[in-house]
Amino acid sequence: MKAVVKHAAERGIKVREDWAEPVAGPGQVLLEVAAASLCGTDRELYEWTPSAQAFNLTPPVVLGHEGSGTVLAVGAGVENVTPGDRVALESHLICGRCYPCRTGSAHTCERTGILGMHIDGVFAERVAVPAGICVPLPESVSLETGALLESAGVAMHAVQRSGYAVAGQYVLVNGCGPVGLVIAQIALALGAAAVVAVEPNQFRRKQAESIGARVLAPSDDVVGVCRDLAGRRGGFDVAFEVSGVRGVLPPLLEALRREATLVTVGHPSEPAAIDIAAFVNKKGVTLRGIFGRRLWDTWEQLLLLLQSGRIDLDWLITHRLSLDEAEVAVELLTGDAGKVLLVPGVNRR
Ligand SMILES: NC(=O)c1ccc[n+]([C@@H]2O[C@H](COP(=O)([O-])OP(=O)(O)OC[C@H]3O[C@@H](n4cnc5c(N)ncnc54)[C@H](O)[C@@H]3O)[C@@H](O)[C@H]2O)c1
Ligand SMILES: [Zn+2]
Ligand SMILES: [Zn+2]
Repeated sequence: MKAVVKHAAERGIKVREDWAEPVAGPGQVLLEVAAASLCGTDRELYEWTPSAQAFNLTPPVVLGHEGSGTVLAVGAGVENVTPGDRVALESHLICGRCYPCRTGSAHTCERTGILGMHIDGVFAERVAVPAGICVPLPESVSLETGALLESAGVAMHAVQRSGYAVAGQYVLVNGCGPVGLVIAQIALALGAAAVVAVEPNQFRRKQAESIGARVLAPSDDVVGVCRDLAGRRGGFDVAFEVSGVRGVLPPLLEALRREATLVTVGHPSEPAAIDIAAFVNKKGVTLRGIFGRRLWDTWEQLLLLLQSGRIDLDWLITHRLSLDEAEVAVELLTGDAGKVLLVPGVNRR
């Protein structure tokens, strides 16, 4: 079958026509991939940057950790799905035995493996995955939307991690990639008083504006705007850092009011300095971070927001490409694009 493969520990990817057909072993599910979506991690893997190498994967492996599909077959012992079911996939492969797994924090499993890195992923016509990562989709949620849920789940988790501190609050979102945009959308859907979104790329600024955020560029006076809007509150109530860019935390901390919350989502490539005395001690800011999605309350909450029509995600999709166009898809990630999908059957439509 056709698959997009990280072929070797070097820059690049290969589209292979002769990749072995996957089979559903015990506890596994064979899926026909409906859609797969890319994120910055796929670009890191393509470029084979130090942060990609830190994932410790062993090429060759099929890439792709955000995807959805239809169940073709199930292996022995699988009871949660049956052929014909439409599912989205959690990308974290957890051990189920370590302390975090056994105490409700499986998203920080000590032995986390990742789909499309440590087992073959979804940039392929078919994929075999552990049954435990399959999330059946409600009828009203399309397979394409299903392919966005892994990444949208990161946004949902960030809002959960803030203590849902968005309703009736001033919310600052730094970075309007797909994750930041969905944080902004969820915050507005849950009743934020205002969302200010900071983003240098004009295309993404337009996307943020279209969902009702007030948009600024990083070169604008973000601190001044937030303080003016917030009036006697003294600053914004909650900020989400979703760019992963270095040096962005100090202005966010300045823009927050006393006893506010900062949730970090972006992964900077190096340690970031913060003035603990000024911001954490005296200002009383609570600093929280997230990794992946809570299993499974993040998925349940996100699906409910979709099912109830409070949010929709399809507007994020700007490109649908074939597996052959995987390199083009990687290039699009740094350009004027929202979510880029690889759709194995795109030419058959
Ligand atoms: N914590 C987790 O579990 C988790 C999961 C997925 C992604 N991430 C990270 O979250 C971040 C966002 O993910 P994404 O898929 O939306 O990525 P993305 O790269 O598409 O989005 C980042 C955005 O930040 C913008 N940006 C650049 N410089 C900026 C600045 N100075 N101020 C504000 N914005 C700036 C970029 O133009 C881009 O639109 C990335 O760092 C990613 O690695 C973390
Ligand atoms: Zn991703
Ligand atoms: Zn574990």
